Amino acid sequence: MKWMKEKSENKKEEAVGVDPVVTPIVKGKEPPRLLRGMKDLLPQDGMLWDWVETTARQVSREAGFERLDPPHLEDVRLFIRAVGKETDIVEKELFSFVDQGGETVALRPEFTASMVRAYIEHGFLNQPQPVRLYTIGSLFRYERPQAGRFREHHQWGIEVIGDQHPVLDAEAMILALRFFRILGITVTAEVNSIGCMTCRPPFREALIAFYRARRKHLCENCQRRLAKNPLRLLDCKEPTCQPFKEGAPQIVDWLCDGCKQHFIKVLEYCDAGGVPYTLSTHLVRGLDYYTKTVFELYTTRTTGEGETRIALGGGGRYDELVGMLGGRSAPAVGFGIGIERIVGELKIRGITPPINNRVEVFVAQLGDAGRERALKLLEEMRTVGLVVRGSLSKDGLKSQLEIANRANALITVIIGQKEVLDETVILREMEGGMQEIVPYDKVIGELQKKLGKKGGAML
Ligand code: HAM
Repeated sequence: MKWMKEKSENKKEEAVGVDPVVTPIVKGKEPPRLLRGMKDLLPQDGMLWDWVETTARQVSREAGFERLDPPHLEDVRLFIRAVGKETDIVEKELFSFVDQGGETVALRPEFTASMVRAYIEHGFLNQPQPVRLYTIGSLFRYERPQAGRFREHHQWGIEVIGDQHPVLDAEAMILALRFFRILGITVTAEVNSIGCMTCRPPFREALIAFYRARRKHLCENCQRRLAKNPLRLLDCKEPTCQPFKEGAPQIVDWLCDGCKQHFIKVLEYCDAGGVPYTLSTHLVRGLDYYTKTVFELYTTRTTGEGETRIALGGGGRYDELVGMLGGRSAPAVGFGIGIERIVGELKIRGITPPINNRVEVFVAQLGDAGRERALKLLEEMRTVGLVVRGSLSKDGLKSQLEIANRANALITVIIGQKEVLDETVILREMEGGMQEIVPYDKVIGELQKKLGKKGGAML
């Protein structure tokens, strides 16, 4: 037998894969559990997730973005180069491992690096610029699990690659705000400019000099950042570091003429486009590829303990990344929006999708002949656009009517042995329990009439 032969040929390879890692786990008695920081998407949240994703796709498409989904696994060097060796994402949070072929790979912690790699690799540079791409999917960061922070999270990301015009920075924010408006979440933007390769180095030096003089008062993390990633000192959240922020040099005072002009134009376009924003001179973001504009999108919720600010998204310009990853230089801007946090907000605020997906018709059957007819009728009703539900494996009428009630169905169609023989069905209005017998070939037309839907009988 061919499959047995193949199996024995694969034996050696299987043994290598199984022995060191899998065997001890297989032998353990504990049932496997969800990993820390991971989450199941449960049915009760499914409708909100569908709504958020559908809205993101619709907003992207309407604004001329095309879908590009990169893979979950990439060469680890992509993220080291793009996100930066000294960032938390690369230094502490990468899920990376050596694969069976000996290559060091990483689960993507963010989209931008992969989108740029794909842009270069598939020759998008030779298409009319800018190229507008969007994606939705999961990302992996080995973070300390806490509220709103997961080790696998999902984002909607958009990237506009190949144009440096400041109007695109504002347009990205306007696009995100439109998405949040559809979902009914009020969001404000915090905006800053972190300059470019010309004006950032002298600013960095000034920042180091300022903080070096205060080194011993800084938190442990900031003492480390001082040597490795001094810009991050500015957005440290530790109380001990707060007093120094006020007096610290501000990047806006160090911007070169090009960056200053760009930033002024971005803010003018934000004003023109009605973006509710505040200037945040301490906003630097945690990824190294940014140049010029950076922004974060926040929503505020009032709780018993006061106001909580939740970062629902963030983004900015990255004019050097395409060049850094080996392409011809192409300026770009984009954002990433966290889906878990949005779904969390929708739930807390009790916001539900406007689409009424209420089950209109439930089909109940008795006996196998009834089941066959129900199977056919369900399909025919779906074809004409009725929202229908059945429970084909069930037999008793009582239990099926209970399911219909739980599904909130408006009308139940009952098909028993007698109805099959008579070529009829019973229509039962769930509220009030009124029943009538309808010829089988008139049932769809009759249901459409009762539900106030257009169209005649299709049978
Ligand atoms: P980011 O700020 O790292 O940006 O992530 C964007 C959003 O994803 C955050 O504002 C947050 O809502 C959500 N998020 C991030 N980490 C987690 C987590 N561990 N658990 C739950 N939600 C999370 C980026 O990733 C950039 N690539 C965005 C970008 C695109 N910039 C330019 N283009």
